[in-house]
Amino acid sequence: MTCTPNLHLALLGFFFFFLSLPILSHCQSNPSSLPPPPNPRLERAYIALQALKHSITSDPKNLTFDWCGPDVCNYTGVFCAPAPDDPHVETMAGLDLNHGNLSGTLPEDLGLLSDLALLHLNSNRFRGPLPLSLRELRLLYELDVSNNRLDGPFPSVVLRLRSLKYLDLRFNGFTGGVPSEVFDLPLDALFLNDNGFRFAIPENIGNSTVSALVLANAGLTGCLPRSIAGMGETLEEIVVLNNSITGCLPPEIGALRRLRVFDVSSNGLVGGLPEAMGAMERLERLDVAHNSLSGEVPEAVCGLPRLKNFTYSYNFFYGEPMRCLKIRHVDDRENCIPHRPDQRPERECEAFLSKPVECEAFGCRRPPPPMHYPPPPYY
Ligand SMILES: *[C@@H]1O[C@H](CO)[C@@H](O)[C@H](O)[C@H]1NC(C)=O
Ligand SMILES: *[C@@H]1O[C@H](CO)[C@@H](O)[C@H](O)[C@H]1NC(C)=O
Ligand SMILES: *[C@@H]1O[C@H](CO)[C@@H](O)[C@H](O)[C@H]1NC(C)=O
Ligand SMILES: *[C@@H]1O[C@H](CO)[C@@H](O)[C@H](O)[C@H]1NC(C)=O
Ligand SMILES: *[C@@H]1O[C@H](CO)[C@@H](O)[C@H](O)[C@H]1NC(C)=O
Ligand SMILES: *[C@@H]1O[C@H](CO)[C@@H](O)[C@H](O)[C@H]1NC(C)=O
Repeated sequence: MTCTPNLHLALLGFFFFFLSLPILSHCQSNPSSLPPPPNPRLERAYIALQALKHSITSDPKNLTFDWCGPDVCNYTGVFCAPAPDDPHVETMAGLDLNHGNLSGTLPEDLGLLSDLALLHLNSNRFRGPLPLSLRELRLLYELDVSNNRLDGPFPSVVLRLRSLKYLDLRFNGFTGGVPSEVFDLPLDALFLNDNGFRFAIPENIGNSTVSALVLANAGLTGCLPRSIAGMGETLEEIVVLNNSITGCLPPEIGALRRLRVFDVSSNGLVGGLPEAMGAMERLERLDVAHNSLSGEVPEAVCGLPRLKNFTYSYNFFYGEPMRCLKIRHVDDRENCIPHRPDQRPERECEAFLSKPVECEAFGCRRPPPPMHYPPPPYY
């Protein structure tokens, strides 16, 4: 049995019609003719994702192109998993649209994604606030909205996310204060850098359980509180460069014995490096450059066993043990160290070093007054 050429053409036409169907009638099939999502939880996810799709105004990589029909687990960027409270029910556990370059806003309907554990939206062009409804995401563990155009005040809704461990708000346009409660959250990592915040480091920073804390270019003012020692059991990396931190480094930072990276460069710190830093045995990278630190660099710091990169350029240090110059990468330029190359002009050093250092001169909390011990007995 052979087909007539006409039938061939008709079949071919039919074939091409179907081929083009997904593009021409993209998501246009009558929703009532589609089977319902397999369970009510995925049905809510479907509503949320359709709302998100509609609030996206530009999708240059077509990430949401296949966001059609009830089977949300098949959508690009969506991950489903059995519900922790019922292994027989499939739920939407993750949404990853990283590097999507998507424009738009985040709709309140995202609060319907109540089974979500991961929300990764980094490197897009979302603007506006985070929806308040995110507080419904009781299982949300990782929230990464970094490198977007989100703005407005600090999104306090994150304080309500009881499962949150990883909070990344960096590279957005958030402004104003940062609530101190963020340091009371049981987080593993906190990234607030490169926003328009302006806030003083709160006293409860020591309550934080993070291993990584990045507050660079973040409008920080005030001093490093002594209570920072409270992070001694968890903190491995703290980067607070390019802020307006003033006062002296408290000796309590020596209690940060797990710390590998300590970067307080480009701030307004004065005084010396505390001897107690010699107890930071895991320290690998130490950057205190571009401050107004002075005194002698403690031998104990340069002797730290794992220290590979120590940058203290652009300060007013006037002494350094030989040992410091044996560190693999060391930068001591633009200080007041005798017989070293590339130091500050003498008169600049004299002018600065003739003034006394006052750790409390910047409105920083004073250390507790010295206890009045009975005078030592004379022998
Ligand atoms: C996205 O889909 C449109 C058609 O709807 C197509 O013209 C474009 O090339 C696609 N872009 C990518 C990056 O796949
Ligand atoms: C989901 O996608 C897979 C592979 O892309 C496909 O085999 C399956 O039929 C799809 N499921 C539904 C319900 O569309
Ligand atoms: C994102 O999209 C904008 C506008 O379409 C474009 O100018 C820009 O180059 C894109 N960025 C990336 C990283 O693809
Ligand atoms: C956090 O620290 C402050 C003092 O620094 C303390 O008063 C407060 O109770 C702590 N909060 C929590 C939740 O641990
Ligand atoms: C330093 O931080 C300010 C905001 O606090 C920012 O405007 C500036 O670009 C930052 N500088 C660098 C070199 O990143
Ligand atoms: C050492 O640290 C400085 C600043 O903290 C950094 O710019 C430099 O790249 C580091 N050097 C090496 C070799 O890691």
